[in-house]
Amino acid sequence: MQRRGPRAGPQASASRRGGVRGQPDPKPKAARRPVSVSPLPSQRSDDALDPTAMRQPLPDAWYCVAESRALKRNGLTAVALNGEQLVLGRGADGAPFALRDRCPHRGMALSKGPFDGDTLMCPFHGWRFGTDGRCRAVPTLSTHDAADFSRIAVQRFPVRESAGFVWVNPSLQEGGPVPAIPALDFEPAGSLVVALEVEASFDLTTLSLVDPGHVAFVHDSWWFRPSKELREKVKTFQPVEHGFVMTSHATTKSSPVYRLLGGVPEVEIEFRLPGVRLERIVAGAKRVANYTFATPLTANRTLLTNALYWSMPALNLLKPVARPLMRQFLTQDQQVLQHAQAGLDRKPTMVLLGDGDLPSQWYFRLKREALESARAGRPFANPLERRELRWRS
Ligand code: FES
Ligand SMILES: [Fe+2]
Repeated sequence: MQRRGPRAGPQASASRRGGVRGQPDPKPKAARRPVSVSPLPSQRSDDALDPTAMRQPLPDAWYCVAESRALKRNGLTAVALNGEQLVLGRGADGAPFALRDRCPHRGMALSKGPFDGDTLMCPFHGWRFGTDGRCRAVPTLSTHDAADFSRIAVQRFPVRESAGFVWVNPSLQEGGPVPAIPALDFEPAGSLVVALEVEASFDLTTLSLVDPGHVAFVHDSWWFRPSKELREKVKTFQPVEHGFVMTSHATTKSSPVYRLLGGVPEVEIEFRLPGVRLERIVAGAKRVANYTFATPLTANRTLLTNALYWSMPALNLLKPVARPLMRQFLTQDQQVLQHAQAGLDRKPTMVLLGDGDLPSQWYFRLKREALESARAGRPFANPLERRELRWRS
């Protein structure tokens, strides 16, 4: 199989496969060729995009960095984000802040020092910084010393709160509109959060959020998949802002988790850049949301956060049962991703084949469009089209 750069890989394949807007694609089997995807830098001289950019997580996007409840007033939390170390906290007004966790003086971690709700004090030589990052005091300076610290500052990052989480955009440039931060469209009666670190790249981990093919083999627990048989699936996907969505009605053969809700729930699964999967389940007035977020910690470590929210207070009783099951589910992904990453480290190519791998190709197309539109200073134009996919799982 010929090795191609990311541009020639998923993009070339998707256009070659054609597809009619709004209709299933009746193509002969012979037209279905596997696609080899390599995250290695492309050698193409006409590649307008810096090839290494496709290998990185999107720089200008919101990433889930902590649970909101983990941020206490007067407390500091250290987190990693895309190779950077951040210190998070809440000011006296309750508003969260995110600063680079590095004192400009000698590089000490500010998260190791005290915070009085107003200033962070570096524990090395006592320099003080406001929650806006500006240096407020250097206690070791003599009153006769004219050294000026007013221009010294720690980098501050944009921070938001939504759906019970803290979100940080690591980009230092003011860009255009970026993918919306996930929100909840109902008031939850309860929620459960499980997070696991995966020793795998952000891309590989994010692909698992859009990969229907792995479910039958990786998530084969009795409580999720009572039947071991592979069944034909036909689902319609359509583009949405910065991603795509699959809508369906759950059937009686669906997972017991869906059946727990009673009736015939409607399920909608949205993927959104940079690495967000939003599963929304509606059964009459009942609502369940199953959200998963990928957060790049370093080049080869990714945080997978799974949050389950529900509108029915009675489900709170199931928390002690549901938590270990959620952890088991996420651990199944973690284990297989880590072994796959080891294989990709030895040879960094993937072969994407068939409809089941199309969402993975779409991920790369969306990411490329986000990078190219930001680079050209134009609005993001979703390159995907509505279409029906068939696979067995
Ligand atoms: S390293 Fe922070 S005050 Fe010296
Ligand atoms: Fe999975």
